[in-house]
Amino acid sequence: MSQFPVIAIDGPTASGKGTVASLVAQKLGFHYLDSGALYRLVALASEKQGIDAKNGPELGLLVPKLLILFKNNQVFLNNEDVTEAIRAENIGLRASAVAVHPEVRAALVGLQRSFRQSPGLVADGRDMASVIFPDAILKVFLTATAAARAERRYKQLIAKGISAKLEDLLQDLQERDARDSSRGTAPLLVADGAKVLETSDLSIDQAVKTVLDWYQSAIA
Ligand code: DC
Repeated sequence: MSQFPVIAIDGPTASGKGTVASLVAQKLGFHYLDSGALYRLVALASEKQGIDAKNGPELGLLVPKLLILFKNNQVFLNNEDVTEAIRAENIGLRASAVAVHPEVRAALVGLQRSFRQSPGLVADGRDMASVIFPDAILKVFLTATAAARAERRYKQLIAKGISAKLEDLLQDLQERDARDSSRGTAPLLVADGAKVLETSDLSIDQAVKTVLDWYQSAIA
């Protein structure tokens, strides 16, 4: 493994970790890995190809065949722009289902580690600190109450002109939290040595500043 520093930011769905992680990466001039997008890509591709979300071995074989490209905040799958498509609620739920399979997780390890390049990386997901980058210089577990997360997601969807029901969003979140936390392989957990950042009452700027301060202390 190379020595470029990694900041690992893990947390539950809709905790705001993607926003915080990408802003921290921007401030430091680091690369950014949205590992959830990879599971969403597997979900989308497998749905298109009619592969059952329960079929771990077949899903694992699908991964190396996917042509994945992140460019200018856009995501491409087999040369098709799927930036919006992978954000759909049903794809998020399916991503959580395909992510339980060890075959899928193993097939994505190398790709995730390849993002660790000069001068450094901010990686967000569920197992960044525990499995993918256990030697991360800073490990953050970023969370918020389910109610706060559902409300954030609700506001995002409404702002985009997408209709949504708060109760449905809350139920989806709780379903995904339960599955992501209880699976046998790489469950969502607070990794050894991780600092917990509760963001229910924090602004994005406050959360970003806290992570940057922790990073400065970690490298001092
Ligand atoms: O962070 P997200 O909502 O985009 O992630 C979608 C799903 O992918 C999530 O429900 C669980 C899974 N996931 C995972 O298992 N491990 C990761 N490192 C990132 C996401």
